[in-house]
Amino acid sequence: MRTIKSFLAALFIMAAFSITAQSMQYEKQVESLLEQMTLEEKIGQMNQYNGFWNVTGPAPENGTAAKKYEHLRNGWVGSMLNVRGVENVRAVQKIAVEETRLGIPLIIGFDVIHGYKTQSPIPLAEAASWDLEAIHKSAAMAAKEAAAAGINWTFAPMVDISRDARWGRVMEGAGEDTYLGCEVAAARVRGFQGEDLASPHTIAACAKHYAAYGFAEAGRDYNTVDIGRSTLHNVVLPPFKAAKEAGVKTFMNAFNELNGIPATGNAYLLRDILKGDWGFEGFVVSDWGSINEMIAHGHARDTSHAAELAVEAGSDMDMESYAYVEELASLVREGVIDEILIDDAAARVLHVKYELGLFDDPYRYCDAAREKEVTGSKEIMDACLDMAKKSIVLLKNERGLLPLKKEGQKIALIGTLAADNNSPLGSWRLAADDNTAVSVLEAMKVYAGNEIRYASGAELAIGNTAFITEMEINTTDKTGFAEAVATAKEADVVVMVLGEHGFQSGEGRSRTNISLPGVQQELLETVYAANPNVVLVLNNGRPLALPWAAENIPAIVEAWQLGTQSGHAIAQVLYGDYNPSGKLPVSFPRSLGQVPIYYNHKSTGRPVSPGDKLVFWSHYIDEENSPLFPFGYGLSYTTFEYSNLQLSKNKFTGDDAIKASITLKNTGTLKGKEVVQLYLHDRFASVTRPVKELKGFQLVALEAGESTTVSFIIDKKLLQFYTAKGEWAAEPGMFGIMIGSSSEEGLMGEFELVGTKH
Ligand code: NOJ
Repeated sequence: MRTIKSFLAALFIMAAFSITAQSMQYEKQVESLLEQMTLEEKIGQMNQYNGFWNVTGPAPENGTAAKKYEHLRNGWVGSMLNVRGVENVRAVQKIAVEETRLGIPLIIGFDVIHGYKTQSPIPLAEAASWDLEAIHKSAAMAAKEAAAAGINWTFAPMVDISRDARWGRVMEGAGEDTYLGCEVAAARVRGFQGEDLASPHTIAACAKHYAAYGFAEAGRDYNTVDIGRSTLHNVVLPPFKAAKEAGVKTFMNAFNELNGIPATGNAYLLRDILKGDWGFEGFVVSDWGSINEMIAHGHARDTSHAAELAVEAGSDMDMESYAYVEELASLVREGVIDEILIDDAAARVLHVKYELGLFDDPYRYCDAAREKEVTGSKEIMDACLDMAKKSIVLLKNERGLLPLKKEGQKIALIGTLAADNNSPLGSWRLAADDNTAVSVLEAMKVYAGNEIRYASGAELAIGNTAFITEMEINTTDKTGFAEAVATAKEADVVVMVLGEHGFQSGEGRSRTNISLPGVQQELLETVYAANPNVVLVLNNGRPLALPWAAENIPAIVEAWQLGTQSGHAIAQVLYGDYNPSGKLPVSFPRSLGQVPIYYNHKSTGRPVSPGDKLVFWSHYIDEENSPLFPFGYGLSYTTFEYSNLQLSKNKFTGDDAIKASITLKNTGTLKGKEVVQLYLHDRFASVTRPVKELKGFQLVALEAGESTTVSFIIDKKLLQFYTAKGEWAAEPGMFGIMIGSSSEEGLMGEFELVGTKH
């Protein structure tokens, strides 16, 4: 672990190398401001409170709210979260700017996770598009809408890799793969922050949850994480590094402990790697109350100790633990903490405030006319619809069921989610008005040539749906089955919208059962028995285990939770007005017992059966090893053929590169898009490497009958990993290559990296 002295040396070196003139100017301003600040005011910049009273009403007079209010007026609050809307933000900002001694503006944070008021698809769904431009745009639109409502900073993107479908927050990230995760992380950061952070249309981003939160044991949220060095460096950290390289201004640490040390107090993660090796100059916010949670973890003895550990480790801002505001000043005065750490943390926060333009104009994000014009604008709605269509994955399409014919059909639409205007808004929709999503039922009716008959079949949830703990899932009431069966019997095609309610995934929503919730599986089988022409549209925030449906239902469309424009996106795909091109960013298991299941697993010493009847190889005796639907998988209404894998050479030294190409042909009758995927396999290494790893992808659009050459450049950087020596290097030897349409299908070859050190 680094000493404070070496940390300070690193800090000064970093400062000396700060690149832009603008940034140097801010540094000077920060420095001169720090000189005027009392210790308490500097600590104030490290303190973040949740919105604690109705800011447009009277000031709080008693209790905690009154105390927080006093802190705000003393200049002891640097940031607030969950205050939103121009009127409210202006009111708190006014206190900070006009009533405190130095008038330092607040930075206002909010969870803009999949949109602000207008909801885009949940992040897992967006990742299924593999369309980085669209993802970038989606983040930019969310930023624009949030910024217009007074927000300066989103707690997104979540870049946690997750391999466990039980974990509810799978919905919030880009899935199981590190390479895709890196690309999506960078696109989201750039989308939120834009070219100019001081623009009133952009907001600061936050890479979270640093680190390894997605590896909670047994998929139970907030649980212990215990992973090895190789997994940490090769799988977990790269998307955070990619976010840093994309210029992310802030990081959020995590609730979990990592190998015995809570992430919030983890100097190895924060000081050594993030602020040391990577040279991150922004600030780190704790997760909600996570500083104090170090007591429950069994790491800190009390709040004062927790504050000490967190600040020493490099957590710059305290979200709702009250630990910094209450404990840090005495810790400094007693000589337990060096004031230089406070100066550094406060400077980091102030610097981001300068970059946001808050010192030039604290009300820059508080323009009521702009808020009115931007919120729910056509530009934002159109981007949400576009993103939603691109997020859909066609999993199965037999008997020519899809696209649906536009005329003369009787269509039975079954499932309570088909008529739901709330669930598609997903889990993190704090600013959205309830019931503002377009339902599938509403959107199907836009296609007037067919007769649509709706039957709910069964309610999914009973009672309050805002929090899953209060949400009772219907496991018994089948009174709607008869109507559903009757409706199905009269129909040419049955469209069933089934899956999880939007509130069944997200924070704190871990599940031990990843099948269709409630009585929906039984409903599916009952309706199928009445009319087998079933198109199953899935709504879910995590991979589901649906072996019966995969075997029996002829057409399956993965439609996640797609946000405000959900119904239109689904209807346009069902009717073929949009040809789906999404690919799964997570493996779908055959059964829960396979979890965690992910395509880039290791080989083991016994990867295949040594003989038909032998039991001693790495497998289950009651289930296959392979997933139901693999990572990278997804169909189109057209078909693509891969041929002619060519490598420019079969050996390279690392000073040069290999060009790998294939021919891709659209062999169907419709134009369409295909995500061409490059996978590599390092056959032997000082630390064993996965059986394959995604190392590149391209989204290619082709007219019917058209062909093109798709190429990838393979250089040594693509082959590097965190070796047994703890360095990033490519090791010489043989590599397998596959270019194809999913992690399980492609053209294969091999090449060799020669030489000794790369
Ligand atoms: C806790 C969550 O873990 C984090 O992701 C979120 O940003 C904060 N709460 C603030 O709402």
